[in-house]
Amino acid sequence: MIEIKNNILYFDGCNTLDLAKEYGTPLYLYSENLILSKLNEIKSSFLNKYDNTRAAYAGKAFLTKYMCKLIEKEGLSLDVVSGGELYTAIEVDFPAERIEFNGNNKSIEELEMALDYNIGRIIVDNVYELERIIELCREKNTTSNLLFRITPGVMSDTHDYITTGKKDSKFGIPLDEDILFPAVKKAIKSEYVNFLGFHFHVGSQLHNNLSHVGALDVVLKLIEKVKILFDFNIKEFNMGGGFGIKYTEEDDPMPISYFVDPLMKRLDSFCQNLGIVRPSVVMEPGRFIVGEAGIQLYTIGSIKEIPGIRTYASIDGGMTDNIRPGLYQAEYTGLIANKASDKSNKTVSISGKCCESTDILIKNIKLPNPESGDIFAVFSTGAYGYSMANNYNKIPIPGVVLVKNGKSELIVKPQNYADMISRELIPKHLR
Ligand code: LLP
Repeated sequence: MIEIKNNILYFDGCNTLDLAKEYGTPLYLYSENLILSKLNEIKSSFLNKYDNTRAAYAGKAFLTKYMCKLIEKEGLSLDVVSGGELYTAIEVDFPAERIEFNGNNKSIEELEMALDYNIGRIIVDNVYELERIIELCREKNTTSNLLFRITPGVMSDTHDYITTGKKDSKFGIPLDEDILFPAVKKAIKSEYVNFLGFHFHVGSQLHNNLSHVGALDVVLKLIEKVKILFDFNIKEFNMGGGFGIKYTEEDDPMPISYFVDPLMKRLDSFCQNLGIVRPSVVMEPGRFIVGEAGIQLYTIGSIKEIPGIRTYASIDGGMTDNIRPGLYQAEYTGLIANKASDKSNKTVSISGKCCESTDILIKNIKLPNPESGDIFAVFSTGAYGYSMANNYNKIPIPGVVLVKNGKSELIVKPQNYADMISRELIPKHLR
């Protein structure tokens, strides 16, 4: 899907220079064929390979009306983490029974929304939330399907800021017996909630499966314990997401089967030994589905050479449209779309336009001599780029264009200056 023809970068059949001209820069591009290829891998290595499985797209990676529609059409479920994400899905008629709601501090209003729409599952993050859900269900005389997100206490090999499964985490119910089991008992006994099983999410951008396998072992013990204590067989197990993608040459991402197969094998043989039916198994990938399917285009403006030290090439965007380098030291690679096969013989740093020293998109990349007016393309920006965009320095959020087989279409209009101030009010005494 990423090709070079006549020294120009093409994305899903579209000439990126033409796209930059037509839609302006900075610009987010998504290739539908690349998203579909990832969904197909999930289907062939998981959904079609194993019975009684589901995949829920973690919308936080990139949630728009378009993604809801595509995910619906492709038959997946959707994981939302806020009233806003839930609203987006419901607005475009995403089937409520295929929505699951994660998050460590869902408000009463958000829980009410979830119950009123009758969504498929709420993933309970703490005991306080369980009590609120039971109370709300009683008030509304309704019921809700629940999973418990547990904190499995495993370490994961990723940036500390995106690790979520270790014990000292704001996410999930700790394994302490006097916290977890009374909560499980309460949920099993309650006539208002339907307890289905356990959920974990151990981290993001993972290239090895050790955390998933370690966390599964924790869940297996829980399945056994819950059977012994409450004579209850869990019906569903959710392994979260976290499957890593390729950002730079150093990344060597593993296929989905590398994560899934050992889990399924262990779970199957465990259930056979225990003489129970295997629970249904759900995965919740975000980055894996959209990360490599997105690229961004920028125009290079000022170029500053500090003799003997460094050359900075500044782009017309930065940490407002991709905060990941500033926030997590995330690394990206890219090229000059109008000099795509020229020899890269100059080391430069690509800096954003925000008033912040950490606003450096790429440190020390080799490029053909960059000049003002060149179009710089960055790869693998599809996850947590647009979804974490912000208006620092009152810089508008760029538009999003979908490309497929040489055709392009706007799916999110770019913000303009008026949009950014449209909700601001001048207090009476200064009018
Ligand atoms: N399920 C749960 C409960 C999660 O918390 C997450 C991500 C996912 C699924 C999807 O994880 P993925 O497959 O995308 O790795 N903003 C950070 C990533 C934060 C991920 C938080 N949770 C970044 O830009 O790297």
